[in-house]
Amino acid sequence: MPDLPARVRIVEVGPRDGLQNEKQPIPAAVKVELVDRLSDAGFTNIEVTSFVSPKWVPQMADAAEVMAKIARRPGVVYSVLTPNMKGFEAALAARADEIVVFGAASEAFSRKNINCSIAESIERFAPVCEAARAHGLRTRGAISCALGCPYQGEVKPEAVAYVARLMKDIGVEHIGVADTIGVGTPRATQKAMEAALSVYDLADVSGHFHDTYGQALANIYACLEMGIASFDTSVAGLGGCPYAKGATGNVATEDVLYMLEGLGIETGIDLAKVVAIGQWISGHLGRKAFARAGNALAAKRAA
Ligand code: HMG
Ligand code: MG
Repeated sequence: MPDLPARVRIVEVGPRDGLQNEKQPIPAAVKVELVDRLSDAGFTNIEVTSFVSPKWVPQMADAAEVMAKIARRPGVVYSVLTPNMKGFEAALAARADEIVVFGAASEAFSRKNINCSIAESIERFAPVCEAARAHGLRTRGAISCALGCPYQGEVKPEAVAYVARLMKDIGVEHIGVADTIGVGTPRATQKAMEAALSVYDLADVSGHFHDTYGQALANIYACLEMGIASFDTSVAGLGGCPYAKGATGNVATEDVLYMLEGLGIETGIDLAKVVAIGQWISGHLGRKAFARAGNALAAKRAA
């Protein structure tokens, strides 16, 4: 049996990755309540919102209001997406603890998502990372389409290593290897992770798996076998990317916590509270949670 990490860090991305894809307007008050309930459940890393163009992602237009109204818990890192300096200035004013620059391992996706080439994206991210460093903010980078692209198809591990190197060179402290459209399988995931680990230390790499093809838990387990101990997950399996049509949400936080608890891996997060949050936000959105363990646990509690 391989040794698995004793503790895993979960970055809850539901308020950002989860809600960004919702077509119906969601009141800022609901977003604020979601973030506050998550910090109460024990999450120490919450991706709150994005400072992006409201024309591109209308759902995130209330980013400043949400950041202003959340009840900050000491020790919790509240992160936001910032594609450029305009986003960074807004993130700074909103007192974000960490900024996330988001690039891609696929040229085609980079153009669709942030309207520029990979090289241009790095030019935009460089001053953002420099400013973040100057102001004492942490920096994270996302590498989208690390396991496949909706426009380009196959993406090779070399492309992941290439973007990871570019991000490292501009001072991005931590990278998330993202399966935007959920096509990856465990061995392919390990190859993409190896590519990231050729540039970054083990503690500075995380996995971000959308669960479109039902592979996310297997892919997380494959990462655990490699010693990777940081994952982005989304309560109730909310999410998707508006520029990756057909991609469903991130792997559900409830399902990941259930698996980790079964493996005896600590997270510091209260699964029962997360199940309740998943049921609540799904009720608000008018649908059932996309969380198998979450729904099973909720049904058991109701019975
Ligand atoms: P652009 O049109 O090339 O930018 O968009 P521009 O610099 O030419 O500016 C155009 C307009 O946008 C201007 O306004 C700017 O002021 C405004 P106008 O003069 O037309 O009124 N603008 C901004 N407004 C607010 N905040 C900003 C900002 N920047 C420019 N930061 C841009 C380029 C990057 C802005 C645009 O493409 C964009 O906002 N894209 C965001 C796409 C996005 O949020 N996608 C989802 C998040 S990524 C994701 O989900 C993947 C991830 O989960 C990992 C995975 O699963 O793969 C992270
Ligand atoms: Mg995503």
